[in-house]
Amino acid sequence: MSDFSNRTKGELILEIKNMNKSFGPVTALKNVDLNLYRGDVLGLIGENGSGKSTVSSIAAGMQKADSGEMTFLGKKWSPTSMINALENGIGMIVQESGTIAGITVAENIFLGNLNQFSRFGFINKKELYKRANDVLRQIGIDNIDSSMIMGSLDFQSRKLVEIAKVIMKEPEVLIVDETTTALSQNGRKILYGIVDRFRKENRAVIFISHDLDEIMEVCDTLTVLRDGNIIRTFKKEEFDPDQIRLSMIGRELEGDYYRSDYEHVYGEKVTISLQNATVNGHMYNINLEAHEGEILGIGGLSHCGMHTLGKVLFGAVKLDEGEALVDGEKIKNEIFATKKKIGYVSKDRDNESLVLSASVKDNISIAGLDIFSIGNFLVLYSKENEYVKKQIDSLSIKCSDSGQIVQTLSGGNKQKVVFGKWIGCGSEILVLDCPTRGVDVGVKQAMYQLMVQLKQEGKTIIIISEELPELMGMSDRLIIMKNGRIEKEFLRSKDLSDAEIIGYMI
Ligand SMILES: Nc1ncnc2c1ncn2[C@@H]1O[C@H](COP(=O)(O)OP(=O)(O)O)[C@@H](O)[C@H]1O
Ligand SMILES: [Mg+2]
Repeated sequence: MSDFSNRTKGELILEIKNMNKSFGPVTALKNVDLNLYRGDVLGLIGENGSGKSTVSSIAAGMQKADSGEMTFLGKKWSPTSMINALENGIGMIVQESGTIAGITVAENIFLGNLNQFSRFGFINKKELYKRANDVLRQIGIDNIDSSMIMGSLDFQSRKLVEIAKVIMKEPEVLIVDETTTALSQNGRKILYGIVDRFRKENRAVIFISHDLDEIMEVCDTLTVLRDGNIIRTFKKEEFDPDQIRLSMIGRELEGDYYRSDYEHVYGEKVTISLQNATVNGHMYNINLEAHEGEILGIGGLSHCGMHTLGKVLFGAVKLDEGEALVDGEKIKNEIFATKKKIGYVSKDRDNESLVLSASVKDNISIAGLDIFSIGNFLVLYSKENEYVKKQIDSLSIKCSDSGQIVQTLSGGNKQKVVFGKWIGCGSEILVLDCPTRGVDVGVKQAMYQLMVQLKQEGKTIIIISEELPELMGMSDRLIIMKNGRIEKEFLRSKDLSDAEIIGYMI
């Protein structure tokens, strides 16, 4: 049992001074100063890529700063690894997976400490599983057996095991990096319970989340980061969503956030259409036409069929009845769609739109291959480099260089890579399924501007979204779906009311 008689609330526990960190040309942290006090749950918030994970992971021993000083429990702090940091009092639950798939849950939990179970070179598995199960049950996880292979668990369970593994060491400082998005209600309750215990025991927590409501609820203090700088620290009584948002983006969002006009203007030419299109179980008898220079919005509840519709337009889902046509020709499959200059941004970006383990360059150039290759074989590398560089520059994708692996980019920058891939190869029709999901406001704004620009160039944009303000803010025409059918169509106008539209969704 830990002795916390000497834990005094309000005492400085971790101090970061003048920390700097760069990745090639990208400055991730600029002269960052951060103080963490006992009994405090400090929230870090900021746009994708603002430096939250970088500063926390340096404190947790995952990587080294270029310069700066850290003091922990009154002593100079320079952890050599995450395990080393955890053994000495700072534990972090990382944004990406922090466990090993091929071994058991128990081995993951006791990784680095398995010796205690070994006698004469043999591991006492029974004892190991029992102890690991105890650890899991203690924090309220009762549906995972520690003898299971890690890789057989779903994402949420893996996250919970990771939490158990860190908590078991009873660190003085716990860092939670964007973990809650991976957790269900029950998982969240477990995590919030732990955070609360840390506060009560006068330990300290750094809590990183994208969700402003959540972070205001969970934290006592909030520090805003922007482009690697500390912008402002808010105390609980100063929490004000508008003020916090404003300091995250550093500019007013109103005004040019969405389209500023209220007209529905587009060309006469129909570029893509559906005729009596049916996919059994998902959508029925859909008739729809999109035009040159049109932003066509499609909205509804998430199971209304609109995501399937998007896939149909890209040839990724076959119709049971009816037809999908581009320039009067049947959309046979994805290869045909790509040839016909249809681009598609999937809602499930990480699995369907990107090869996470490949570089920014490979992801962008994949759709533009015919621009810089001759026949099927010869790729002109200098042209490819030029092409990729152009996309990175024009979308201001934040990466150290085009060789950076996409997995390591922030969410907003990943989404820019997907856009770059399709815009670069001159897509005439863009099907965007929830393009701004999980993307911070700054990038959102850039995407809306890009959509307007593409519209002005005469391209067709079909935006499928679960966010009504975005659909109302951007579309020339808005189609509402319900139970796989088109329920209603609205034209862009000043007088659209969200209450009326919602009435057709549910
Ligand atoms: N391993 C890395 N290699 C190259 N660039 C990186 C790496 N890690 C982070 N970055 C860059 O540093 C900046 C800060 O990233 P990060 O701390 O992950 O932001 P946040 O967690 O606030 O979203 C981003 O521009 C990101 O692309
Ligand atoms: Mg991060």
